[in-house]
Amino acid sequence: MNNKKYSVTVAGGGSTFTPGIVLMLLENMDRFPIRSIKFYDNDAKRQETVAKACEIYLKENAPEIEFAYTTDPETAFTDIDFVLAHIRVGKYAMREKDEKIPLKYGVLGQETCGPGGIAYGMRSIGGVIEILDYMEQYSPDAWMLNYSNPAAIVAEATRRLRPDSKILNICDMPIDLEEKMAHMCGLKSRKEMQVGYYGLNHFGWWHKIHDKDGNDLMPQIKEHVAVNGFADALSDTNQHVDASWRETFTKVKDVYAVDPSTIPNTYLKYYLYPDYVVEHSNKEYTRANEVIDGREKHVFGICNDIIEKGTSKGVEGFEADAHATYIVDLACALAENTNERFLLIVENEGAIENFDRTAMVEIPCIVGRNGYEKICQGAIPQFQKGLMEQQVSVEKLTVEAWIEGNYNKLWQAITLSKTVPSARVAKLILDDLIEANKEYWPELH
Ligand code: NAD
Ligand code: G6P
Ligand code: MN
Repeated sequence: MNNKKYSVTVAGGGSTFTPGIVLMLLENMDRFPIRSIKFYDNDAKRQETVAKACEIYLKENAPEIEFAYTTDPETAFTDIDFVLAHIRVGKYAMREKDEKIPLKYGVLGQETCGPGGIAYGMRSIGGVIEILDYMEQYSPDAWMLNYSNPAAIVAEATRRLRPDSKILNICDMPIDLEEKMAHMCGLKSRKEMQVGYYGLNHFGWWHKIHDKDGNDLMPQIKEHVAVNGFADALSDTNQHVDASWRETFTKVKDVYAVDPSTIPNTYLKYYLYPDYVVEHSNKEYTRANEVIDGREKHVFGICNDIIEKGTSKGVEGFEADAHATYIVDLACALAENTNERFLLIVENEGAIENFDRTAMVEIPCIVGRNGYEKICQGAIPQFQKGLMEQQVSVEKLTVEAWIEGNYNKLWQAITLSKTVPSARVAKLILDDLIEANKEYWPELH
């Protein structure tokens, strides 16, 4: 330890995940000491509710931490070591449109996959780059840990537009799945496993899993996943618990069946079983509605309760996002040079030998004070390579469309998505998405 105390800005202070992250940071103060937490958001009113509740909580539980919240970039990004970024450009109102517009045309509607994910990407790129620029302007030595979605498209955009920036793009889905796999094997934590993994974000596979003694855990995990998917496996996360998530965890067994030599990420369900997903969707009530009626009501309800009472004592429901401790692990790795392994979304450059060198891939990396080193995953099988080439082209075309304002490239991106049946349907969806996203997308021509 170097006895330094860190200053952290949470970008997207009004996020439903902010209180869980703050409590998680407090729980980890012994290894990641904090002197200041600031919230930044471009929606003052939404942020204020979360911030006032957190302010009360912090005063009562960690009065030594300086706390502030603001919509002013200079205040937010001056004198900081880390930005934890989880913004949602367009908020749930736009997520709902991302999900419902494709469904109108018989195509699945999902936050990060298919046309909905592409639409969200076209909104997120500008927002994330703006925050990265603020960070570099006011605290040039800081690191941004970004988990704003769609992480695959955002990562490709930062590779293209800000190649030298200190940003790490990350995802929590593999964390939860690795916790589940560890528990299947009777281990206490995913940290007792060493994994081999390759893919794109929300589009990857485990191909090797060993315990600390080097024993192969894949046979045991496969046996379990073949019967139950990830459905009945335990994890200490309080995030993926709704019925729709349980359904996704169950469906993994059918995704696994297609290639029993690897363990798939849950998100592959949207690409391998899109017809099933559409049949099981309610066009009037999608995941966005579930989150608005569930997580958002819950979190804002607790915040308002704390604000009204003027104290967090006796108010139930604020809990640390336990599995988000990987964010502290990652910050510690950068700050304290722990050289721990993480799955990161990084430029391939040969780590996956037979795949586009410029693709942003999700692979294990070793993280220390000077950034990350990639762990080579070798050559991947034809099936995965074929799928990934198609999907990475979707992501690259989306970013090119955003940079150039190019209508045809976005039409191509949607057409190429495995979730979309034809260029005709792609165009119908695109034209609706353009109308819905007028406020957020660059103009396309
Ligand atoms: P949310 O809508 O509750 O919060 C997002 C906040 O971002 C809002 O307060 C909004 O006002 C703010 N915001 C929007 N545009 C902004 C901008 N340009 N600058 C500053 N602030 C801006 O959303 P949520 O459900 O809590 O999710 C937050 C984000 O975290 C989403 O992008 C979500 O997809 C992502 N997420 C990622 C992972 C992962 O694995 N990578 C896991 C969970 C959540
Ligand atoms: C997982 C993914 C995230 C995604 C989230 C959606 O955690 O890794 O990238 O944002 O699920 O969850 P939600 O509850 O908002 O549908
Ligand atoms: Mn994710």
